[in-house]
Amino acid sequence: MPLIPMYQCLHEAEKGNYGVGAFNVNNMEQVQAVLRAGRELSSPVILQVSRGALKYTNRIYIKHLVRAAVEENPDLPVVVHLDHGDTLETAKIAIDLGFTSVMIDGSHFPFAQNVEVTRSVVAYAHQYGVSVEAELGTLGGIEEDVSGHVQLTDPAQAGEFVRQTGVDSLAVAIGTSHGAYKFKGAAKLAIDLVPKIYEQVRIPLVLHGSSSVPPELVQRINEYGGQMEQTAGVPIASIQQAIARGVRKINVDTDLRLAATGAIRQVFAESPAVFDLRDYLGPARDAMTAVVASRMKDFGSAGHARDYQPLTLDDMRSFYRVRGF
Ligand code: G3H
Ligand code: 13P
Ligand code: ZN
Repeated sequence: MPLIPMYQCLHEAEKGNYGVGAFNVNNMEQVQAVLRAGRELSSPVILQVSRGALKYTNRIYIKHLVRAAVEENPDLPVVVHLDHGDTLETAKIAIDLGFTSVMIDGSHFPFAQNVEVTRSVVAYAHQYGVSVEAELGTLGGIEEDVSGHVQLTDPAQAGEFVRQTGVDSLAVAIGTSHGAYKFKGAAKLAIDLVPKIYEQVRIPLVLHGSSSVPPELVQRINEYGGQMEQTAGVPIASIQQAIARGVRKINVDTDLRLAATGAIRQVFAESPAVFDLRDYLGPARDAMTAVVASRMKDFGSAGHARDYQPLTLDDMRSFYRVRGF
């Protein structure tokens, strides 16, 4: 199976009423971890690549890691997505590399400017059958630096945004934030906003900042010399509620970072003589595989790789007709 576009993946998820985790990858071990979990559980796979990951891999390495992943797993539906693209130029770079989905994140712009940049990416990407995710509202975490405040997504404005842009999926702000430190106390999320937004947009919704930051992963890091503070992530139960109400793509990066860090710290603490990379990157890869597999089960995508049929040209045409393009 060649790489598949995001819209096929998210429409399958809509049909089956489940969510698909989108996991950030920067190196071979992460790509392998996500693919191994997908293969073990027969789950569709979304690999996502940030601008930082493009830079870290000098683009060409990530391009070929993805090729290797597809070659190794010919029966698995795999999407490759640009995470938090900032300009049309970045989207073009990703499409040239063979990505089948791009995000244009204009959420820090005023509404009209967000519409304008998103429209330009939709017009370009759709020529190549590439799906587009946009974002409306602002999360906490990394985006606080840009916006200075958290703004939950307004359902009516979301409806207007989707009509004006023709975007394929929409990332919403309901109280999640990026990184390991999401909530001081108990998690506070506006899950009730999800059906209200979905009602207005009728396209798959995306939840960024969805790592659950499991205490056992943080404890493992601290037990072996790390210094992470008390923190909390997004409870799996809340994500499942969001999925039941229209969220289809769930972004997870931090949990893989935590899993890898804990595993590596444990090897270094217990076996200080180790200096073969494989002796610590191997356990890191195993720990990330376990996290991804657990999310695939919890989000409901496990088993659904078997539902996929190859997309025909007619499917693609009808998709765009349904969407009004
Ligand atoms: O949302 C951001 C992702 O966690 C990617 O992070 O920009 O450090 O690669 P990064
Ligand atoms: P986390 O930091 O919660 O893993 O979120 C990742 C993300 O949203 C990537 O776009
Ligand atoms: Zn994000």
